[in-house]
Amino acid sequence: MKITVIGCGYVGLVTAACLADFGHTVTGVDHDSSKIALLKQGTSPIYEKGLTALIRVNTQRNRLFFQTSLDHGVEDAEVIFIAVGTPSLDNGAADTTQVMAVAAELAKYIKDYKVIVNKSTAPIGAAKQLRKVIRDHLETDVEFDVVSNPEFLREGHAVKDFQEPDRVVIGADSPQAQKVMSRVYAALIKKGVPYIQTNLESAETIKYASNAFLATKITFINEIAKLCEAVGADIRTVARSMGLDHRIGPQFLNAGPGYGGSCFPKDTKALAYIGRASGVPLTIVETVITANEEQKARMVRKIKGMVGAALEGRTLGILGLAFKPDTDDLRESPALTIIDNLLAAGAIIRVYDPQAMEEAKKIFKKTLIYCADPYAAAEGAEALVIITDWEAFKFLDFMRLKKAMASPVLIDLRNLYTPAEVEQYGFKYENVGRAGHGDRDLSDLRYPG
Ligand code: UGA
Repeated sequence: MKITVIGCGYVGLVTAACLADFGHTVTGVDHDSSKIALLKQGTSPIYEKGLTALIRVNTQRNRLFFQTSLDHGVEDAEVIFIAVGTPSLDNGAADTTQVMAVAAELAKYIKDYKVIVNKSTAPIGAAKQLRKVIRDHLETDVEFDVVSNPEFLREGHAVKDFQEPDRVVIGADSPQAQKVMSRVYAALIKKGVPYIQTNLESAETIKYASNAFLATKITFINEIAKLCEAVGADIRTVARSMGLDHRIGPQFLNAGPGYGGSCFPKDTKALAYIGRASGVPLTIVETVITANEEQKARMVRKIKGMVGAALEGRTLGILGLAFKPDTDDLRESPALTIIDNLLAAGAIIRVYDPQAMEEAKKIFKKTLIYCADPYAAAEGAEALVIITDWEAFKFLDFMRLKKAMASPVLIDLRNLYTPAEVEQYGFKYENVGRAGHGDRDLSDLRYPG
């Protein structure tokens, strides 16, 4: 099949490359000419495991093309995917300006039956609005259908998530569009991947409900971790034992500094907004958003509880800036809130992150000291704080750290270690949900902005 994907960000690019790998002839379109120039040379503008190889192989096989203009991309394709950004507005709602602008533009080139697929995470009802915008801008009186096909791609695992998904969801109001989409995903249907055909609103709701549920699961375990600290229980054992119940499942039960990234914070806010706008406030989702903010604040109190609230001129080491490992993405990373608060209290911050330091330099107005490795970040520090669960932080040399630090204090916000293995080196150790100290009587937390 001939398919065009509009938007070559991480969702669009992975979609284009994977659909080409299924055997379709795919054109990726993006108005960013420098991005397209890179892609034409076989270089991915983003880091995603396996993506560059997929782009190169399918370009060589003449199944994957890139261009900046929409015209032929739309005219020649049977199916057109839209995968552009839907950032948060101030009221939490998702901004569909880019999706609708693309729809208005592509409508001009529709000369025969097309299926237009929205892959961008957009409010419930957006697909129908998309249909209206396209209809209003058609220059030829032809039939077309609109489909909602939400993505469930984790950054860093997006290629695998596309090739081996837990499910594919197709929302459409016409049997003809459903038929076309089952040809698009024939390779996955053949493999037995659960394939859900539903209406537009259900598909749009599935996306938000899934992300909000995962965010709730994380927030729930963070709350239980707080309780564990108060009552002397161990969250690792509690979470593992809960996860062994098949009805609960083991994933997304790692307590930590709060969820971040470009999806959960944005999508929970958008879903809460949809609930309010629909006259059915979603109290769980609203609470999750507040609780996640409180979790980040609690982490700052934890740090102050270990080193003292007066941080003026005191040195702290930070390991990890990215919102999760294997990415340089800092969007909504808990590290940003934590560091902002520590800087506001006057701390001197030494940081190390394997990927995200260049991004961090663009964000922090006050200077951080960027270090070459974890040991350099620990140099002269009164405490070392692990914020991101990078693999590289799981095997630290504690003797070396102790020598480098002004005082041996480890605050492990990802529970990478057990108290016994850290304390045997003479470290004071704090974590999330495995000890009852360091988290009380500090009410001076300030949120930046
Ligand atoms: C998330 C979803 O997992 C994808 O299914 C979805 O398609 C994507 O959003 C999206 O809507 O585009 P992603 O944002 O890449 O993917 O990141 P996750 O791996 O889900 O992690 C999100 C946050 O939760 C991270 O800050 C992570 O550290 C945190 N987390 C995750 C925990 O604190 N504990 C856990 O047990 C799991």
